[in-house]
Amino acid sequence: MKKVLIVNASKRKKGNSYALERRFAELLDGKAEVSVFRIGEKDVRFCLACDGCKRKHEPNCVQKDDFTALIPEIDSCDAMLILSPVHWDNFPAQLRAFLDRTYSFMDFTQPDFSMAGRKDKKLAGYFCAGFGPVDVYTNMVETNLKSFATAGFRDYKAHVAGNANVPGSVMDKPDDLKAAEDMAAWLIA
Ligand SMILES: Cc1cc2nc3c(=O)[nH]c(=O)nc-3n(C[C@H](O)[C@H](O)[C@H](O)COP(=O)(O)O)c2cc1C
Repeated sequence: MKKVLIVNASKRKKGNSYALERRFAELLDGKAEVSVFRIGEKDVRFCLACDGCKRKHEPNCVQKDDFTALIPEIDSCDAMLILSPVHWDNFPAQLRAFLDRTYSFMDFTQPDFSMAGRKDKKLAGYFCAGFGPVDVYTNMVETNLKSFATAGFRDYKAHVAGNANVPGSVMDKPDDLKAAEDMAAWLIA
């Protein structure tokens, strides 16, 4: 069975990302080994930019926090799914911190700058936005997802659900629910 790591980047427990987390868990039930990392409940510190990780040639970090503990799972999963709100036209700060910490996979001695153990992993980003332009946000999400290539995620898909400011309202939108179904199927294909 494929291993799927769900990263929930929302702080709103009654919000859209948490509702989608439950929906994706249902969609993947019995079809994948799913684990969930809720950034808002974890200790994910900022990247120190100390380059301590560059002393080794396997993913590592000198900090002792929940991100460092997650590194082996990020490295060995088959796919990662990010569920997140859009904040100020971009990744929310907690997800930006998570992305920054994937610097622990960067290796300047490698031609592709990556010390990831696996470089064939899939990455999906499902974002919810309150008011903003879905096409612009989809571009923003795709641009940011590309940065996870260093951690070995080279194949990615993005979806942005717009007009979803009301907590849980994404669950009333058939097109966005269909996008979740398609994304779940793609993650384990
Ligand atoms: C600090 C903050 C900034 C936000 N910035 C934007 C924004 O720039 N554009 C937008 O469309 N919605 C914005 N929103 C609304 C959220 O994207 C929207 O409510 C989303 O559905 C929240 O997802 P969640 O319930 O999973 O946390 C913002 C919300 C917060 C709290």
